[in-house]
Amino acid sequence: MAAEGAGRAADAPGWFEAGLPHIWLPYTQMAVEPPPLAVSSTDGVHIDLADGRQLLDGTASWWTACHGYNHPHMVAAMTEQARRMPHVMFGGLVHEGALRLARRLAAVTPGDLDRVFFSDSGSVAVEVALKMALQYWVNAGETGRTRFVCFEGGYHGDTLGAMAVSDSEQGFAATFRGALAAQITTALPRTRAAAAEFESLLDSRRGEIAAIIVEPLVQGAGGMLFHDADTVASVAAAARSRGIPLIADEIFTGFGRTGQMFACQAAQLVPDIMCLSKALTGGAVGLGATIARPHIFDAFLGDDLACAFMHGPTYMANPVACAAANASLDLFESEPRLDQAARMEALLRQGLEPLRALEGVADVRVLGAIGVVELDDLPLPLLYRLRRGFIERGLWVRPFGRIVYLTPALVMEDAEIDRLCAGIGEVLRGI
Ligand SMILES: Cc1ncc(COP(=O)(O)O)c(C=O)c1O
Repeated sequence: MAAEGAGRAADAPGWFEAGLPHIWLPYTQMAVEPPPLAVSSTDGVHIDLADGRQLLDGTASWWTACHGYNHPHMVAAMTEQARRMPHVMFGGLVHEGALRLARRLAAVTPGDLDRVFFSDSGSVAVEVALKMALQYWVNAGETGRTRFVCFEGGYHGDTLGAMAVSDSEQGFAATFRGALAAQITTALPRTRAAAAEFESLLDSRRGEIAAIIVEPLVQGAGGMLFHDADTVASVAAAARSRGIPLIADEIFTGFGRTGQMFACQAAQLVPDIMCLSKALTGGAVGLGATIARPHIFDAFLGDDLACAFMHGPTYMANPVACAAANASLDLFESEPRLDQAARMEALLRQGLEPLRALEGVADVRVLGAIGVVELDDLPLPLLYRLRRGFIERGLWVRPFGRIVYLTPALVMEDAEIDRLCAGIGEVLRGI
């Protein structure tokens, strides 16, 4: 098989040809899609391919690598940790990196979000949040609160529980609809009238609702849809006044992506539970964190083990992942990441806004270090052509659905951001 976009089978390394027949790739129709590219290394904002080509990365690997790849401070922290203790179980044992990270996350997240439960991915961080909310009510003697309020356009992960609170009308959740727990899916209340309707919904289903789950400001993988701070603030106010826990999924938005450290800060809200992952480790290694306010944590205290939170992923709080996350927080403290996000917002706006005039472009939107060009339609053959066009220009931009997006490393240089925006323009004009 030839590598994507190039017909360079002769250049493919032995491991590529030998291993490809045995790999099952994500989100890929393997019967027809071009094979993946063979990567040999990463560096800064670049992905180096095994055939010698280099791609400028517009995605930061699914918006994780906020400091760019292989940042020396992160590599040193992980290397030192791997030498000393790559892993140890977290049942009955703790280690410095995890406790230090928990303390720092409690300090950096809004308000009194204070108790950190570690896991190993974003989806699991969401599962943990959902289970926390369910058991919060069971421990309080309310066993009928088994449903979640979630939003159209939302995406919270690929495990069954996370899919159930994602928008089942779009994306991949629809396939599994019959197997997913029924939740209460509604539109984000973007107007005052909609907010009143939303409150009526909460009142009419009151005894059933365990929690509300929302992606603040940006619904990411569900289509990179934006809403304003007032919208999420009204959701939070409606939840708070009814004693319904609010779960903020900041797996996409956290760590500077929207211009603030956390999107909740733009709405000045403190959720009852917050989910973090992705850029938590600066994109180096998988780690999830579900952070709860004291009243949630306290509901699990008592002399009965059944009241405790009975969940424990084997690799939770992996020491190398915690070392990466601590090093990433060091970089947020010592380098001007939020200023860089603000600068990127201006550059993305300048570079992408003119594309609004192109035929077939439905919308252009920018927030922080997120740039989106939404097309009227993007049938699969065209999607593949677009992807190929980017690779031919030395860019790693990977459209999905009807969306061409940029979520670069926050450290990217101005000229590189301009190159990405110009590349999107060229590729769109070419189709
Ligand atoms: C908002 C949000 N929640 C949850 C997830 C799931 O994270 P993971 O892919 O690490 O399971 C994602 C992934 O894109 C996400 O964007």
